[in-house]
Amino acid sequence: MKFFIDTANLNQIKEAASLGVLDGVTTNPSLMAKEGIKGKDNILKHYVDICNLVDGDVSAEVLATGFSEIIQEGEMLASLHENIVVKVPMINNGLKALRYFSEKGIRTNCTLVFSPGQALLAAKAGANYVSPFIGRIDDISSDGLQLIADIRLIYDNYGFETEILAASIRHAMHIIECARLGADVATCPLQPILDLLQHPLTDKGLEKFLADSKKFI
Ligand code: E4P
Repeated sequence: MKFFIDTANLNQIKEAASLGVLDGVTTNPSLMAKEGIKGKDNILKHYVDICNLVDGDVSAEVLATGFSEIIQEGEMLASLHENIVVKVPMINNGLKALRYFSEKGIRTNCTLVFSPGQALLAAKAGANYVSPFIGRIDDISSDGLQLIADIRLIYDNYGFETEILAASIRHAMHIIECARLGADVATCPLQPILDLLQHPLTDKGLEKFLADSKKFI
C-alpha cells in the first residue's frame, strides 16, 4: 500500500518524507488556501516546491469546471513537473477531461468520488487514480469503508488498472481497514501516519529494556 500525505504544508511534507515511508502528496483547493498562498504564480511555485520534496506523485487540482478550461488548466499543471498528477472532479466535463488526458498521456486523479458508479466511470475514462472520500461519507452516517470494498470488487471484476486512492481519512484505523480491503493508496494528514507507530506495549517494553540495560553498562 502506498502512503500519500494530504496537505500542502511543506514542513509536514518534509517530516512525512523523513520517515521514509512517503510515496506521494495530495492537495486540494482547501489545503492550498490553508497555507495562505495567494496569486497564480505563487500557487504554481508551491506545487513545484512540493514536487521537489517528494519522489512520487503530487496531485494538483484544477479549479475550472468547463471542459476546455479543465483541459487548458490540466495541461498547464502537468507541464510544471513530471511528478504532477492532474486532479479532476467527478463531474460531466471532468469525466470527458479524464478521457482526453488519458489519451494524451497526462496522469489523473479523479476526485470527489462518493459512489461505486462514479468510480466505475472514472476507471472507464482512464483515470490513473480514483479518490473515494471515506471520512466525508462517514460524516453523513454512511459507510465510507464499504465504498472502498465495492470499488475494489468492481475493479477486480474487470481488471481496471485505476488505483484506489482512499481519501478523507480521519484516523489510523481507517488506514488499516483500507489496507485490509485492498486500497492501493491511503492519503491522510501526518497525524494518522504517526499514530500507526504507537503501541503502549512498545513504550512499556522499551522502558524496561532501557532500565535493564543500565544493569550491564
Ligand atoms: C484528498 O485528495 C482529499 O482532497 C482529501 O482527502 C479530503 O479530505 P477531507 O474530507 O478531510 O477534507
